[in-house]
Amino acid sequence: MPKTETLSDGTQIVIRELLPQDIDSLMKFFCGLPFEDRRYLRIDVTNRKTVEQRLKLMEFGYHHRLIALHGDEIIAESALELSFEEWRRHQAELRLIVARPFQRKGLGMIMMRELYCLSLRKNVETVVVWLMKPQEAAYNHACKMGFHDRTVLPSYVRDQDGKMQDLVIMKGQIKDLLKEIEKFFGEINWQDCP
Ligand SMILES: CC(C)(COP(=O)(O)OP(=O)(O)OC[C@H]1O[C@@H](n2cnc3c(N)ncnc32)[C@H](O)[C@@H]1OP(=O)(O)O)[C@@H](O)C(=O)NCCC(=O)NCCS
Repeated sequence: MPKTETLSDGTQIVIRELLPQDIDSLMKFFCGLPFEDRRYLRIDVTNRKTVEQRLKLMEFGYHHRLIALHGDEIIAESALELSFEEWRRHQAELRLIVARPFQRKGLGMIMMRELYCLSLRKNVETVVVWLMKPQEAAYNHACKMGFHDRTVLPSYVRDQDGKMQDLVIMKGQIKDLLKEIEKFFGEINWQDCP
């Protein structure tokens, strides 16, 4: 890291770890998202204080965040959130959001591949993705990534509009997901993850 990648339309982007000094660019990214893409997020990402509190959690070493940049502009943000509780120490949650103009160009897959690299470095065995039922793009994306194990908790979470939604938890074993993603990228030397 940083790593330069090419999207399916030829656009060059850079992926690197999020740094505390990226906060202004990150807020610009979040505030530029359409409400529909923010609606099902678990926090109000347009609230700087809330975002700052969330970023503070990185200092404990359990939360890791990657961003994609087009020039100086953040165009995607992703997170690997490890559990600090012993009974879930082998698990991590993956989170991802891509700016509208850069969606459907393979950036989501690239970011997930990088999160897998990070997962391997952190000895994660099981990864989960949490979604609200109406998040169709995210659901299809997770299916394409090879997350087949799905549990639904009906009316369990509230969206940013205050409406109750079903929570969908998708789970995968990292060793299986690595094989799945290689179908798109070709063989990857996972030992060599930067
Ligand atoms: C879900 C999301 C991260 C996908 O990112 P992306 O960069 O557009 O995804 P990719 O280009 O890598 O797409 C890979 C595959 O996912 C599926 N997919 C992605 N977006 C989709 C959509 N809008 N509708 C249906 N399938 C979709 C497709 O199978 C796609 O492959 P294809 O384009 O060859 O058909 C993006 O749509 C997003 O940020 N959405 C809003 C926020 C969100 O829901 N985040 C997830 C919370 S964990």
